[in-house]
Amino acid sequence: MKRTAIYPGTFDPITLGHVDVVMRGLKLFDHVVVGVAANPNKRPMFGLDRRLQMVRETFADEPAVTAVAFTGLLVDLAHEQRAHAILRGLRAASDFEYEFQMATMNRRLDEKIETAFVMAREDYTFVSSRFIREISGMGGDVSELVPAAVLPYLKAGEDRG
Ligand code: COA
Repeated sequence: MKRTAIYPGTFDPITLGHVDVVMRGLKLFDHVVVGVAANPNKRPMFGLDRRLQMVRETFADEPAVTAVAFTGLLVDLAHEQRAHAILRGLRAASDFEYEFQMATMNRRLDEKIETAFVMAREDYTFVSSRFIREISGMGGDVSELVPAAVLPYLKAGEDRG
């Protein structure tokens, strides 16, 4: 049986830290579906279609990784995609509290879905999408922190369309 995991996030934009989590996830699962959340509360810099496009371009050569956008509950997406687990990355102890709450809440919403955590690579523990947006917006070089596919989008700047 093919084992599928959903890796959810806002991905505004996707970073090499996220890519690292996906690639680690592929050691545990046959298929990783990257779930790009609309997340209007965060007022993302890039619209949902752009964020999805960046993820798809990033994994264009990786057939075991697909991407979908979603606006509802993560557990509903997990059902829809017939996923066995939710995949998340832990960068530091400070991530734990939030991840623990989210995993517990998702378990309450659906007892059958497990959350699997992988440890992010040390080089990327300090990376977050917010820093990428900020540094890039001020003209800094983020080329070693994001997939090559993301660079033209960052160069073009904010696009909520
Ligand atoms: N490498 C780099 N950055 C990472 C990272 C990693 N391994 N892991 C997390 N981050 C960063 C993200 O880039 C993001 O940075 P930012 O806030 O500076 O932009 C931050 O850490 C956390 O964001 P992310 O991982 O995208 O998660 P999120 O908190 O934005 O997304 C959802 C949370 C989308 C998974 C959650 O809100 C959700 O499931 N929503 C659907 C609705 C639902 O089901 N709600 C109930 C959930 S209990």
